[in-house]
Amino acid sequence: MPGLVPGIHDLRATSKTWMVGSSPAMTIWLHASHSKALDAGHGYSAMLATAGPPCERSPALTPELHQKLTAWRRHLHAHPELSLQEKETSAFVQEKLTELGIPFEAEIGGHGVVATLTRGSAQGRVGLRADMDALPITEDTGLPYASTSPGVMHACGHDGHTASLLGAAALLAADTSWSGTVDFIFQPAEEGFGGSRAMVADGLFERFPMDRVFGFHNWPGLQAGTVAVHDGVVMASGGRVSITIEGHAGHAGMPHLTRDPVMAAGHLIVALQSIVSRGVDPLDTAVLSLCTLEGGTARNQIAGRVTIGGTLRYHREAVKDILLARIGEICAGIATSFGVKVTPEIVMGVGVTINAPAEAGLARLAAEKVQTPVRRDLAPSMAGEDFAFYLQKRPGAFVWIGNGELRDGAELHGPRYDFNDAILPVASGWMAEVAKTALASN
Ligand code: NI
Repeated sequence: MPGLVPGIHDLRATSKTWMVGSSPAMTIWLHASHSKALDAGHGYSAMLATAGPPCERSPALTPELHQKLTAWRRHLHAHPELSLQEKETSAFVQEKLTELGIPFEAEIGGHGVVATLTRGSAQGRVGLRADMDALPITEDTGLPYASTSPGVMHACGHDGHTASLLGAAALLAADTSWSGTVDFIFQPAEEGFGGSRAMVADGLFERFPMDRVFGFHNWPGLQAGTVAVHDGVVMASGGRVSITIEGHAGHAGMPHLTRDPVMAAGHLIVALQSIVSRGVDPLDTAVLSLCTLEGGTARNQIAGRVTIGGTLRYHREAVKDILLARIGEICAGIATSFGVKVTPEIVMGVGVTINAPAEAGLARLAAEKVQTPVRRDLAPSMAGEDFAFYLQKRPGAFVWIGNGELRDGAELHGPRYDFNDAILPVASGWMAEVAKTALASN
């Protein structure tokens, strides 16, 4: 199974106002990761209320297209599909591209689709990306277009991202003011199942030799329609941590005849928490969260085995090396101290999402052109994003577009989350504009 990294919900930069190792036992695999941050819950009327002027100022998206995109987004919301299972979603995208008269190739890296528009004689080529997969979450929104698939939900807004990219394709198909080639990347399996890696492995950049790539994620807690562009780091890289402690089970009244993994786990957890506080430069950023602890079956038996699960996050690769080394050293030390076997396994994500300077500038310029507020003062998130993998291959930028006001109980990846349809004009408009702006800059 590709590396599923449990979601970390972190969003330090927004507010309700606007706003591892030396251990020989260690195993490190490279896989895709993803997790997301906060959000907002809202009914449709509230969405419209929080959308504000930016959407109305967008000159490019007609009310009719907005209405159509909203209907498409809600259809996708009602019919969510898990990572690697996006067959119907992919078919829906292909159907809409056909309606729009835009040629495409399907089944790229799984259920991925890439549509391509070429206009004029310019040689530049830009990629725009949206993710398509949903999450294993039971929806509790009560919305008329709520999920019809029990236990599956578009709780991260990828339905909205897909609709937005279809909107950008519609805009650019009708726009004669640009020259070059734009590729529209509809990516599967973003939620920890390596969709970006799979598309790249399937020849994405050879079959569609784009010079730059851009993408966005809706960002609850940021004013609806505001585009946030980071200089440098946008999202964290991270990995899944699994630690197994094997001791010697026995009678709870005769502990001297056992090797107690529960006691060793207690010491290990405390010691591991010293890594960030004492091993990482305070001016750097890292998270090591241990989130599961399992072991034991009887209250009068010392268990034979304990497992600990968690996640680590960082913004700089050098910090990753510290985390991995220290986890290995501490596990080895605890093993020696308590006479148990400690085996850490770390499954790493795709990397840190880092905007290229020139492309971050183009992203801001495009936002200004669609007359929406731009912010460049937000701190990066400790959430992950597999768009990072594209940015390791091509220069580009990944922005956040405000999804509107936060409401309690409706965080991103929460059961009452919903994408804000009112931001579709800004999202589609920004994507179309950033492609034009990037092509014009060549
Ligand atoms: Ni997401």
